[in-house]
Amino acid sequence: MKKRIRKAIFPVAGLGTRFLPATKSIPKEMLTVVDRPIVQHVVDEAYEAGIEHCIFVTGRNKSVIEDHFDIAYELEDVLEKRGKLKELQALRADLPKAGAMSFTRQQAPLGLGHAVWCAREIVGDEPFAVVLPDMLTLAAAGRRCLAQCIEAYEKHGGNIIAVEEVAPEETHKYGVVSVGKDYGATFEITGMVEKPKGVAPSNLIISGRYVLSPEIFPILEKGEKGAGGEIQLTDAMKALMGEQAFHGVRFDGKTYDCGSSLGFLIANVAFALANPGLANDFRAQLKNLGVL
Ligand code: UTP
Repeated sequence: MKKRIRKAIFPVAGLGTRFLPATKSIPKEMLTVVDRPIVQHVVDEAYEAGIEHCIFVTGRNKSVIEDHFDIAYELEDVLEKRGKLKELQALRADLPKAGAMSFTRQQAPLGLGHAVWCAREIVGDEPFAVVLPDMLTLAAAGRRCLAQCIEAYEKHGGNIIAVEEVAPEETHKYGVVSVGKDYGATFEITGMVEKPKGVAPSNLIISGRYVLSPEIFPILEKGEKGAGGEIQLTDAMKALMGEQAFHGVRFDGKTYDCGSSLGFLIANVAFALANPGLANDFRAQLKNLGVL
């Protein structure tokens, strides 16, 4: 029987150099898309997918992420005394269950693969999800990307990677997969390459949501460096492909890369237009600006 996916790793130890100076003293994960920090959006996505325990791999200057998920006693007290009960309720609704979040440090930003490896003791011997917090997802309909990945895991088992189509001239910026047996929404992955230099094997890029088996950890433990001199998760997954099945999920929706200013701006527009309480007014303002 397949083990349930209970835990998700959120690697947040990167330096955010593409988004400086915004990220000099504020972690990019704490920048807001519409009215919630990016990190809250991805935790919402994880809960929707049935995740029970969130594991953050943090680095220096990231303690504000931990604070965001803690009780703010003084603030709650003031809200209560001022009768701002709706705001108080909203704060409390986002508070994780006690003990349902863990934080560990990646002492140096040696790469995404290394960040995932840093969570090995907290994950233990069970399959787990990885969520890249700077990639926000909106579903076309129904549940979001991680839920779609876990559904695919329940069907196929093994390892799952969410992918998204990009224009062929964009593939050199991403990890790209090769497609084997194709079932439509899901397919067998027969290979992958990080930032292909020549012709890419497809136009399907790895988009920041994974379900992985714990056998990835001994591979990451070797600390082999790949593209950019970093310990790459893609290289470890490639090595694991020799022993275990990998399936791709064509995510039915769209991913927004919030790691750069342009991607971040587009994410804000898309999330505002998807927000029922804001969409109409926002659209009217865009019209005033001559955008629509
Ligand atoms: P990115 O490369 O997008 O993030 O890594 P970055 O390193 O913060 O950004 P730039 O390129 O300097 O602008 C993808 C995810 O992996 C995490 C990042 O925090 C991000 O969520 N990461 C990356 C780590 O946790 N540790 C690392 O060593 C590298």
